[in-house]
Order: sequence, then structure tokens, then C-alpha cells
Amino acid sequence: MKNIITNKKSLVFATHNQNKVDEIKDYIPKNINLLSLNDIGHKKEIEESGKSFYENASIKASYIYNKYNVSCFSDDSGLEVDYLSGRPGIYSARYAGKPYDNQKNIDYLLNEMGESKFRSANFKTYIVLIHNSHEEIFEGKVNGEILFKRKGSDGFGYDSIFLPVGLKKSFAELSLSEKNKISHRGIATRKLVKYLNDNFN
Ligand code: IMP
Repeated sequence: MKNIITNKKSLVFATHNQNKVDEIKDYIPKNINLLSLNDIGHKKEIEESGKSFYENASIKASYIYNKYNVSCFSDDSGLEVDYLSGRPGIYSARYAGKPYDNQKNIDYLLNEMGESKFRSANFKTYIVLIHNSHEEIFEGKVNGEILFKRKGSDGFGYDSIFLPVGLKKSFAELSLSEKNKISHRGIATRKLVKYLNDNFN
């Protein structure tokens, strides 16, 4: 691990995605030095070989915790569609195969759904934190339904075809802060932040 000189406690977010780190950075307690995998010089992708969101998040967090002996958390999220027996689930990012592409994944999923009226779905996030040889799990879930076609242009992944329960706007029509208030990731992240504020000192 690169030597990062600071008198703050280090906490690694086991991701190479700087956007994810930036999104959470402002909410993390000020006594914590939040680092990404790039910051600690870990270049290799950690294989997501688990069978659930929880397992994937846990595999990534334990790998970094054991290799670098540093407190660490990781996340895994995805879309579960009831009509498709929970698919794409842990395969959300790679649903339509290589090269991984969000628009291709949406087309593939809409094609599978056809004209079915049974369109309920949910997004889930699992965050696993490991520190002091102890694992904490934080979950977030948002229910909704799959639209028949894309609506809105913001966001990423399946945002444009997901209508959250109780709203008339798709995830892709919400600002990031509106989405964070109700999203799976927002819910799980707030639980993590509360835990860090209460326990990580
Ligand atoms: P990750 O585990 O957060 O990287 O998410 C894995 C995949 O799930 C993404 O590549 C997207 O396809 C999908 N996904 C997760 N969260 C969202 C979201 O908030 N909106 C749309 N798609 C998402």
C-alpha cells in the first residue's frame, strides 16, 4: 500500500470508480481519510465471484482488508426484475454480454420483458464494511417498475427504464440529489455513514 501520510484513520472504499468515491466523500466523518483502490496503488480488478450482492461486496472488502491490513468497505448493486425471476441481479452490469454497455443491457432487458404487464422490479445495494476483524452489512432497496421504453436522459445503467414507486418520474429524470434521497445506494450509504459517525473513532 502506498504510504499516505496523515494523522487521520484510513478507510478504503474498494473501488476504482472515482465517481463513487467523490459521491460519498463529503458525507464521511472528517476524522476519516477516505481512499480508493487507485489511492493505495491497487490496480487489479477484484473478481466478483459471489452468488449474491452481499457475497460480492464481502469478497472485495475482505480481499483488501486481508492484503493491506486496512479498514475497508465495498458495495455491490443491481436490478432485480420479478418477471425475470430476479434477473439481471448480480449480472446487471454485464447482462447483454461483452463489451459491457448500458444501452445494450436496456435493449436486452426490454426485449425479454416484451409486452408483459407484470413489470415490478427493485434495485438493491449491499455495502460491507470490515474493520477490527468485524464485518458490518448495510442494505438499501427501492421498489418500482420497468417502463416499456426509455424516459429521461440523466443517470446511468437502467435509470431510464426504472419508475420508482410513488413517483411519476424515472430515475433518469431525477437530479442526483433527488435520486439519492430514495435510491438503494442512498439508503445503504446513509446507514454506513451513520455507523461510521457512531463507531469509527
Ligand atoms: P454497481 O455494483 O454499483 O457497480 O452496479 C452494478 C450494475 O447495476 C451497474 O452497472 C448498473 O447496470 C446497475 N445499477 C446499479 N445501480 C444502479 C442505479 O442506481 N441505476 C441504474 N442502474 C444501476
